[in-house]
Amino acid sequence: MSRAQRAVVVGASSGMGAAIVDGLTEAGFAVVGLDLAQATWPESSRAAHRLAIDVTDADSVHKAIGEAASVLGGLEVVVNCAGILGPVAPTTETTQATFQRIIDLNLGGAFAVTRAALDHLLPAGYGRIVHIASIAGKEGNPQMAAYSASKAGVIGMVKAIGKEYAASGVTVNAIAPASIETPLIAAMTEERRAIQRSLIPMGRFGTVDEVAGLVAYITSPEASFTTGFVYDMSGGRADY
Ligand SMILES: NC(=O)c1ccc[n+]([C@@H]2O[C@H](COP(=O)([O-])OP(=O)(O)OC[C@H]3O[C@@H](n4cnc5c(N)ncnc54)[C@H](O)[C@@H]3O)[C@@H](O)[C@H]2O)c1
Repeated sequence: MSRAQRAVVVGASSGMGAAIVDGLTEAGFAVVGLDLAQATWPESSRAAHRLAIDVTDADSVHKAIGEAASVLGGLEVVVNCAGILGPVAPTTETTQATFQRIIDLNLGGAFAVTRAALDHLLPAGYGRIVHIASIAGKEGNPQMAAYSASKAGVIGMVKAIGKEYAASGVTVNAIAPASIETPLIAAMTEERRAIQRSLIPMGRFGTVDEVAGLVAYITSPEASFTTGFVYDMSGGRADY
């Protein structure tokens, strides 16, 4: 059965999000890209429309996804890439406010996006929601307690909501990448980058195109019997 292919990508101006916009466009989707109002978009972005969103503000998320669905004339796919690493620092030097800010953005934002997406996808009885979690959420990265906790939270949330709506036609899944070559990784010290790279059996960082390829599969109508699942993208690092 052929389906309309209309997608929203959150955090679409940079890194994985920018590549996912291009990958979904290549796969035949009309794509609206959402990002912070102050985001700098690549000139080459293939997003048909760009709208502002702040995932820490549930009203902003609701409004932006609603506007995107109006622009597109409907919605089948929502991919959430919004996230921050936060400071890589010892826990004894991390304030409660810093911890909370990262949890609010990475986990609270993922919930707000899922919540708004379900409002649009459930009535049609079809949809694909994908979050970018992290291997940090499975293994825990030292000096990244808040980030690791936020991504573990995304994994738990996806498992819960995937089961909750398993019979609805809407799948809810996550990807758990190890380090992928993006501005987020480029911002780390060379010493930290070397540590991250050494953990990956393939001996290299992943590419945004590899992530976009997996997203194109998960968001396809063919990926119909997998929900509440965390896809690996770790060059052999993940044991489960
Ligand atoms: N790069 C990696 O190695 C890696 C590994 C595992 C998981 N991840 C996760 O993948 C996702 C994408 O990361 P990336 O590496 O492409 O980083 P990136 O910094 O290139 O992109 C993150 C995007 O999120 C947007 N964003 C930040 N705060 C936002 C907010 N409040 N509201 C809306 N958008 C906001 C940014 O503007 C940016 O476009 C993140 O969730 C990140 O935690 C990255």
